[in-house]
Amino acid sequence: MKMHTVIKSLLSMFIANMLLSACSFDSDPQSLITDKRRMEMERTNNTAMEEKIEDLLGSMTLEEKIGQMTQINNSQFAKEISTPASSPSAPPETLLEIDTAKLIYYLDSFHIGSFLNGIAVPAENWYRYSKQLQEIALRHDKHGIPIIYGVDHMHGANYLEGSTIFPHSFNIGATFDTQFSADEAYVLGLETADLGHHWIFAPVLDIGRNPNWPRFYETYSEDPYLAASMGTAYVKMLQEHPQTAPYKQAATAKHYIGYSDPDNGWDRTPATIDKQQLYEFHIPSFKAVVDAGIKSFMINGGEVNGIPVHASYELLTRVLRDQLGFKGVVVTDWEDVIRLHTTHKVAKDMKEATFKAIMAGIDMSMTPYTTDFCIALKELVQEKVISMDRINLSVSRILRLKMELGLWEHPFPQDTRLDRIGRKESKAKARKAAEESLVLIKNEGVLPLTAPKKIVVAGHNADSKRGLGGGWTLRWITYDDKLYPEDMPTVYTALKDAYPDAQVQLADEKTLKASAAGADAIVIAAGEEPYSETPGNFSNLELDDEQLELIKTAQETGKPVILLMIAGRPRTISDVLPDCDAFIWCGLPGFEGGTAIANVISGKVNPSGKMSFSYPAQPGHWFPYNHKNMELFFDFDKALSMTTIAPFGYGLSYTTYKYSDLTLSANSLDAEGSITASITVTNTGSKAGREAVLWFISDEVGTYTRPVKALKHFEKLEIAPGEAKTFTFKINADEHLSYPNAKGEKMLEPGDFTLRVGDQEAAFVLE
Ligand code: BGC
Repeated sequence: MKMHTVIKSLLSMFIANMLLSACSFDSDPQSLITDKRRMEMERTNNTAMEEKIEDLLGSMTLEEKIGQMTQINNSQFAKEISTPASSPSAPPETLLEIDTAKLIYYLDSFHIGSFLNGIAVPAENWYRYSKQLQEIALRHDKHGIPIIYGVDHMHGANYLEGSTIFPHSFNIGATFDTQFSADEAYVLGLETADLGHHWIFAPVLDIGRNPNWPRFYETYSEDPYLAASMGTAYVKMLQEHPQTAPYKQAATAKHYIGYSDPDNGWDRTPATIDKQQLYEFHIPSFKAVVDAGIKSFMINGGEVNGIPVHASYELLTRVLRDQLGFKGVVVTDWEDVIRLHTTHKVAKDMKEATFKAIMAGIDMSMTPYTTDFCIALKELVQEKVISMDRINLSVSRILRLKMELGLWEHPFPQDTRLDRIGRKESKAKARKAAEESLVLIKNEGVLPLTAPKKIVVAGHNADSKRGLGGGWTLRWITYDDKLYPEDMPTVYTALKDAYPDAQVQLADEKTLKASAAGADAIVIAAGEEPYSETPGNFSNLELDDEQLELIKTAQETGKPVILLMIAGRPRTISDVLPDCDAFIWCGLPGFEGGTAIANVISGKVNPSGKMSFSYPAQPGHWFPYNHKNMELFFDFDKALSMTTIAPFGYGLSYTTYKYSDLTLSANSLDAEGSITASITVTNTGSKAGREAVLWFISDEVGTYTRPVKALKHFEKLEIAPGEAKTFTFKINADEHLSYPNAKGEKMLEPGDFTLRVGDQEAAFVLE
């Protein structure tokens, strides 16, 4: 090597290290595991696959490699073609059509290896679109590397016409039954694996601890253990699906990390999260899916503690790779490399932004409209600021993902099983999930509403389909009910079906009082319009005045008022709640939600949902159930009732349960030990019900202040009237009594613990 080349490359390495140390607060380039070493560590024992990856890396050009690291949105090469609706009530027909010239530009000029996005078009359209896309991509790649396609199916196949739409994730959390999470992934696989939807951008594993955050409904819960359990069930079913062969799909853990608890509550805004809290509350759900074998991660577009996550070597490499052991593909979120320059302003231009994101640890950039990333990255490698080893590391991960999904063997979609879409049994699963996700918060004897002669239905979401679907349904945001299936029931139409012999009347603010004459009850379906991401930013959790007025008008009639909240977050209603006879938190229950709500109101279904988060009493003040002792220090009981109308885990039923005989197999254990706890739950009412038994542990003294209690185990079982069932929980010291310190190291501190289940509690000691 010539002298000046040596100096140049030493200089480049020096600059790279300088830049690297500026991109993350405590990165230490000296102790970096080299990219080559990392690549070796990530090799699987599938020798044929690893050899194929090596061969490809040996023969691909730099441009081709960078193309594999780039993801482009389908708006860049496909059009949405809409034809007018066949009848006034029918939805207009919209199809996706590829503009081959535009697509070929991205393939030939930039060798793009991944595309994303869509809307709900018919399956035949998806089939033709994906087939054409892959055919063209393969024809234009001299190595024959298939493309991988990503879709945001967030609650069932929401970008597929005629599909089964499940409730959103915070409803799934409220079922306290991981089977529903698995069912959602199962049905999603059946409906989309054949269509070329290789890469599913779900589940959201962010923790819903801030109800102002507009993506609150996409989270499973405010509780890390519940979110981890639901996420694990989803990922395992989707990635190890028993029925989708020869196709496989990859799940995506998003949005790593700290996205859901921004200081000001708005989308993609800065979060300040103490590191111990990050480890205790935000990381466990992501860690759980790494352990479950998840194949990809998507990154939070915001910042945590002053560093944008896309530029954080500490979070993307130290924590995600070295601590959590993730070996798959890390994709950026939307435009998040360029935003390091344009919005976060931690990079002076696109090139520095690219450098920071790559050196922090991203593998693929969802650019998604431009190829600036490809140009910047190529320059950085040519100038030897980024090494070819670093590029090879990311490309090997991406190629491995594609190989593991079987894309070489089965690159094309198939249309021979399209009758799997929207099957009756799939919709029954979604309906059951919706039913079990509804939380009865208040009932002064009006529910179930049996044999009414007349019901009046009013409110913002009384006859709304989009209200039940919420964001990420059919489109990113669907403002028009006409796009929804004609036969999808609303609350109003479902109640008409549930009570064929009663008069079910729709009313508005003007007609409500008059309509109430002779009514047995008034159902007010309050709530919100759909939103996704930033359009959902707002500044007041309280339900708007117009809706509160309508509830008051209903109350003035003197008729029993059943209030439903169909919304993406808990809109506060404390002023009107005392005069409501019943209140059901419905969340966003999906396409079967209308029927599910009617079934609970009529008593056909006994409600069994429990809150997956704590419903705030006031718009300006909330905290999760697993808060610190000092948060309520002036008066524990009073403060709790002032701040929440229904804490995490709360939910009524049409029957009653008695918890008794809490027993522990021992009163103490050591660090390697375990205790088995059991409780008897008796259905003391007259209706069969499904009861979720939630086991909490309080760590009475800790070096770091401990949450007042933390969920450690749950189980939901059917209990017949008069029947007693025994539930058990094996407490392992290491798993259930430890907590992380600010470095993520396990703390297992001897001392007193309290086990809590229902209204029972028992003390035990870790020795
Ligand atoms: C969202 C992601 C989504 C991506 C692709 C982003 O704006 O934050 O959740 O997967 O877009 O559509």
